[in-house]
Amino acid sequence: MKAATIIATGSYLPEKILSNKDLEKIVETSDKWITKRTGIKQRHIAREDESASDLGIKAALSALNRGKINASEIGLIIVTTVTPDMFFPATSCIIQNKIGAHQAAAFDLNAACSGFIYGLAVADQFIKTGVYQKILLIATEAMSKVTDYTDRNTCVLLGDGAGAAIIGSTENKKGILNTWLAASGKYGNLLFVPAGGSRMPASHKTIDEHLHYMKMEGHTLFKVAIHSMIEAIEKILAPLRISPEKLDLVIPHQANLRIIKAVAKGVNLPLEKFYINVDHCGNMSSASIAVALDEARKEGRIKEGSLVLLVGFGAGLTWGSCLIRF
Ligand code: ACO
Repeated sequence: MKAATIIATGSYLPEKILSNKDLEKIVETSDKWITKRTGIKQRHIAREDESASDLGIKAALSALNRGKINASEIGLIIVTTVTPDMFFPATSCIIQNKIGAHQAAAFDLNAACSGFIYGLAVADQFIKTGVYQKILLIATEAMSKVTDYTDRNTCVLLGDGAGAAIIGSTENKKGILNTWLAASGKYGNLLFVPAGGSRMPASHKTIDEHLHYMKMEGHTLFKVAIHSMIEAIEKILAPLRISPEKLDLVIPHQANLRIIKAVAKGVNLPLEKFYINVDHCGNMSSASIAVALDEARKEGRIKEGSLVLLVGFGAGLTWGSCLIRF
């Protein structure tokens, strides 16, 4: 069997920046509170006319350019998003058409903030079995479109952005070494958008009651997130008999700096081994890890031979990890 590997990455962040100071003018909050409780200083926000596919296309094109790969070489497009352009067609099909990847099959995958990890696990299987030679995985989120800017509990956390990775095959012992996925539907009520689906279709009432926006039980989620990410790190390393100290870099989901610090402590690693971009991006759901991966590569934090662990958690709840030797 072949091994799958990431051959190129790209990302895109919308131009508009919403700082903590800007939020002070919108809800009763302060830069001091947000910085202390979350580590976030600013987040990028999509324009009114910019959707998840628009952000995803820019991330995808930057990955294709960087990898010097033509869109016609892509066999499959997977888009991870909780903020698709619309119910259907899938955002992956919209992107497939606009980037001219006409040979590619395409589907969307929703595992919320763990989406990029779930997407890598799926891509890994298709590459290993030789079904596809090149897969374009795009994590794109326009979280501002489901954010209630009257709710200070959630609106300070979220940002928009997209990251992309092209997954191909490698013959040597590099690439994706292992993936580990988990889910627990019993925690579904911790993080959700109540209306707009078949359970509660859009109505004047759902709009008046702000039911198309994300609802979150932050306190419980905080604890579950720490526990889940520690489990995902331990579960992926154990069968390979790799100890956490061997990792060169950990790229965690970027929900809250305090969560990342607690996870680092939980697996006994210095915070310096964790890549952090929550300060300038906020929480971009599935795009967080994808954008962080691209930034880490651009900054030279990932070199040839680096052992990198991606770990995330999100609504569902879902959580998981992916271990890669670059
Ligand atoms: N500004 C000022 N005060 C605030 C704000 C705000 N933006 N938000 C809440 N507060 C207040 C609360 O009302 C509360 O006041 P009270 O003590 O008078 O009742 C106080 O601050 C403390 O609130 P807590 O909720 O206890 O604050 P906590 O330290 O738990 O931090 C936070 C809240 C940041 C939301 C944290 O719980 C968290 O990060 N949770 C996890 C979030 C997460 O992981 N989300 C998942 C990802 S989202 C996604 O997947 C799309």
